[in-house]
Amino acid sequence: MSGGEVRIDPWGRPEIKDYNRLYEVFGIRPFGEVLEKMKEMGVEPSPLMRRGIIFGHRDLDKVLEAWHNGEPVAVVTGFMPSGRFHFGHMMTGLQLTYYQRLGFKVFVSLADAEAYAVRHMPRKDAIRIGIEEYVASLLALGLDPQRTEFYFQTARQGPYHEMIQLFSSKVTYSEMEAIYGELSPGKIVSALTQVADILHPMLPEYGGYMHVVVPVGADQDPHIRLTRDLAMRMKGDVELNEPAATYHKLIRGLDGGKMSSSRPEVTIFLNEPPEEAVRKLKASLTGGRNTAEEQRRLGGEPDKCPVFDQYLYYLVPDDNELEDVRTRCRTGKLLCGECKAWGSERLFKFLDGYQRSLEHYKDKAWSLVETPRY
Ligand code: TRP
Ligand code: SF4
Repeated sequence: MSGGEVRIDPWGRPEIKDYNRLYEVFGIRPFGEVLEKMKEMGVEPSPLMRRGIIFGHRDLDKVLEAWHNGEPVAVVTGFMPSGRFHFGHMMTGLQLTYYQRLGFKVFVSLADAEAYAVRHMPRKDAIRIGIEEYVASLLALGLDPQRTEFYFQTARQGPYHEMIQLFSSKVTYSEMEAIYGELSPGKIVSALTQVADILHPMLPEYGGYMHVVVPVGADQDPHIRLTRDLAMRMKGDVELNEPAATYHKLIRGLDGGKMSSSRPEVTIFLNEPPEEAVRKLKASLTGGRNTAEEQRRLGGEPDKCPVFDQYLYYLVPDDNELEDVRTRCRTGKLLCGECKAWGSERLFKFLDGYQRSLEHYKDKAWSLVETPRY
């Protein structure tokens, strides 16, 4: 059975309303089973895993097993260098640092071919944004440049581009259309380039990492399915493994809708002045009641509250502290004004610290990555 009406378009920035449907329709597995496995292996899950923000996976258990047996393992991701680095990107960044600490090799593709085809980014801008926004931000979040390979898609050396040529004869136009919707030669090439991003670490020339995991937002699953199919179809010509993937939920905007660069009033950017971010947080929708009296009596609803989302995703890494806020909110002991004032302080400190570190890494980032010639 195909996805039917729940087709998800990775370039259309869809909103996913019902994550459970993804389990049924696409065969994504619940993350809970991996948590069990991690416990058996004595691996501490990350806060995003513990809190259910990373809600699903394909084959992560196999990758962890390989890691446990001392086999080489890698984590791969890519970013289109076409806009400001925001919280969606940060979630992927945090996962890269998590796997890196476990000993995974990290590959980061700066998807300039994709930005050119899909967002019509001028080349010079894509290069500058790739380095000063994306590479610098990832370093500021704690990624170790010694154990990370950053590269631009168009400047990757070695058999990476050969792979793209081979893949192009293993997939039909209508299969791609079913996944991506309206196509163009540029879109086809950049979709296959992303497949190469994910699979090329398995080639001996790049280290032969046969076990690869790709942490993505749920909207990116069509790419993953295509990649897994192509890995299998290359059998006999090139030995590749099906990559694993994990899927995370996307943080909500401050009005409860989508967080997106195109909705700046409800989106917090990692590089905006902290005062500005705090102003937005203070204006946010909450899960509070109409009056203070009502809230003391009925309690607030943290699960519906975009301010609480900021705590859950990144502002309050300590589980006990998070539970304390949740309980005091639910029981009406904490009112939204006080809560926002507390959260604002956290947000200010977080952005201030992050931005200092970002400045420090901007120059360094240029020396780490080979830039495309054209
Ligand atoms: N397509 C991704 C995006 O739209 C970027 C990307 C390129 C990527 N190559 C990748 C993501 C490899 C994961 C793995 O942002
Ligand atoms: Fe949200 Fe805090 Fe208000 Fe609870 S008290 S609804 S968490 S703003």
